[in-house]
Amino acid sequence: MPELELDIHLDADEWAPQLRTDVLNGLTSSPKTLPPKWFYDDRGSDLFDQITRLPEYYPTNAERQILRKRAAEIAELSGADTLIELGSGTSEKTRVLLDAFTSSGQLQRFVPFDVSEQTLIDAAKVIGEDYPEMSIHGVVGDFERHLEMLPTGGRRVIVFLGGTIGNFAPTQRQEFLEQVVSTLNPGDSFVLGTDLVKDHGRLVAAYDDSQGVTAEFNKNVLAVVNRHLGANFDVDSFEHVAIFDAENAWIEMRLRSLVDQTVHIADLDLDVSFTAGEEMRTEISAKFTRDRVAAELSDVGLDLVEWWTDAAGDYALSLSTRR
Ligand code: SAH
Ligand code: AVI
Repeated sequence: MPELELDIHLDADEWAPQLRTDVLNGLTSSPKTLPPKWFYDDRGSDLFDQITRLPEYYPTNAERQILRKRAAEIAELSGADTLIELGSGTSEKTRVLLDAFTSSGQLQRFVPFDVSEQTLIDAAKVIGEDYPEMSIHGVVGDFERHLEMLPTGGRRVIVFLGGTIGNFAPTQRQEFLEQVVSTLNPGDSFVLGTDLVKDHGRLVAAYDDSQGVTAEFNKNVLAVVNRHLGANFDVDSFEHVAIFDAENAWIEMRLRSLVDQTVHIADLDLDVSFTAGEEMRTEISAKFTRDRVAAELSDVGLDLVEWWTDAAGDYALSLSTRR
């Protein structure tokens, strides 16, 4: 069996207080918000996986197309022996990179990092079986808080796929990128997937699909709060909303209360009132341009080396190196 190490920086003891703080802050602010990291319990991870197969949700296939074309270049340009993947989920697309890095004989270690423990363990196990020549060091953690706990050593490439960078608010995004840079040595690489600004109709359709899977994904966050904080959200009395905010260049997902209602959150000893039509923000998904990505990378000390898009120009993968 290949070596499989696992670091858990976010176990149940840490997870629950963090959820409590986020829910208390989010539901007592105006407008109300919930941060997207709580979407990803087992059901949420499975729903996201279903989203990636929807006809309207183009980012996954677009990114896979770019990876297939550029994986060998990424392996060569980075020269890395350690591939760290943030927000790795099932790491399904990452296999394209693992194939290129292992066929060039350079990869010694794969480090998937995710907040969702079971998804990470399941992914690490099957990848370990399929790539016996490399060691796997999984990390369960919050990439906003635990990046300094990444295993050290080796020539590193950090990959952050799927456009998950878009789920940060701008200030969080800059802080996150600063953290990423501080874990890299000069010359190490960062491979970033970003969804691009495009026709608003296609953007909204990608976040409001005709089968209602994204609506289920969005509402699942209420089930997570019910289960872990003893809340009594009636999931069916909220509806899914996806709008494109052109000024901020981001999709906003919200949950709109269909009625006047008060929700009790037992573990917080908190009652939260919603008026009919009131909307709570659950996710932003920012859309980028090349100039914006290059500028934001440069601001934190990363030089853009390559910028690749899919054939339709919907999605981009960039490779940058630490100055
Ligand atoms: N990289 C995959 C999955 C993207 S979904 C792809 O491209 O398809 C976003 C992933 O990020 C999920 O697996 C989720 O569990 C993880 N995630 C979300 N917030 C996180 C956080 N704060 N810290 C670590 N992982 C997080
Ligand atoms: C993980 N992340 C990049 C997805 C996105 O597109 O912003 C999450 C998602 N939300 C709705 N659909 C998919």
